[in-house]
Amino acid sequence: MTEKPEQQQAATDAGAGLPGAGLEAGAAPGAAPPSRAGPAAADRARQDPHDLDRLVESRTLELAALSSHLQGLAEKEKSALARTLHDELGGLLTAAKMDLSWLQSRLDTPAYQERLAQLGSVLDEAMSLKRRVVEDLRPSLLDHFGLATALRAYVDSACTKAGLMADINVPEDGGPFPKDVAIALFRIVQEGMNNIVRHAGAQRVRLELTSDGENYAFTLHDDGCGFDPKIARERWPHGIMGMQQRVRALGGQFFLESIPGRGTTLSVTVPSGAL
Ligand SMILES: Nc1ncnc2c1ncn2[C@@H]1O[C@H](COP(=O)(O)OP(=O)(O)OP(=O)(O)O)[C@@H](O)[C@H]1O
Ligand SMILES: [Mg+2]
Repeated sequence: MTEKPEQQQAATDAGAGLPGAGLEAGAAPGAAPPSRAGPAAADRARQDPHDLDRLVESRTLELAALSSHLQGLAEKEKSALARTLHDELGGLLTAAKMDLSWLQSRLDTPAYQERLAQLGSVLDEAMSLKRRVVEDLRPSLLDHFGLATALRAYVDSACTKAGLMADINVPEDGGPFPKDVAIALFRIVQEGMNNIVRHAGAQRVRLELTSDGENYAFTLHDDGCGFDPKIARERWPHGIMGMQQRVRALGGQFFLESIPGRGTTLSVTVPSGAL
């Protein structure tokens, strides 16, 4: 347990200068939008450092609100696109498969049969590509069986593909996760897993999800190479910043603890009354 102060340091460093990291995130949904600070405010701020602080704070809140609005829109668009691909493209491909088997049952010429079989394989590939794209856009398990099942299946399959051992501890029945919380937590775990697969060189991944009535919380831990948040911060344009932004939008807390050579732990807590 001598590691604790070092870990804490890494967590604090991860948060420094990054809105939402390890801090009570401020921009809860439904919160009144911050007042728009115009050019006059900017002029005043140049003269008074307190005004400058207020201006920076107000702009930060505006950007956070805009960012979570855009994330919400993006999720809606992905969901609509997933539905169109599933229903319309899926319908077209099924119709093509039916026509193909009609032809196959009527043409006996070997050369035609060979071509039709090739066409069948192409259609099968197109169908599985469509399934993968739809699943990436909007995980169907999330909508049909809830967050716990979707996370279990996703982390399990990502670990199997990457040859990682998975230790998954999520409640069996899933619990009542509101949709927006569920999709946000799912996306955060998705990005956390992407990072583990791409950067960690880990052997083992542990996921825990809990809900105590007041908060939803999860921890994603890997035993990989870890990293120095001070150095990585310069390269945090999207992944980690995006996770923080999602947590902030739900009024939750985001912690990232990492030590070079000792693995990385991502912890997120979101109040159940967030929405
Ligand atoms: N689990 C991890 N293990 C080791 N290093 C990590 C881990 N997660 C993040 N990192 C480090 O932190 C950096 C920032 O991660 P982040 O997700 O923000 O960006 P990225 O993965 O490089 O790019 P992207 O924008 O595509 O997500 C990574 O480049 C990597 O060096
Ligand atoms: Mg990333």
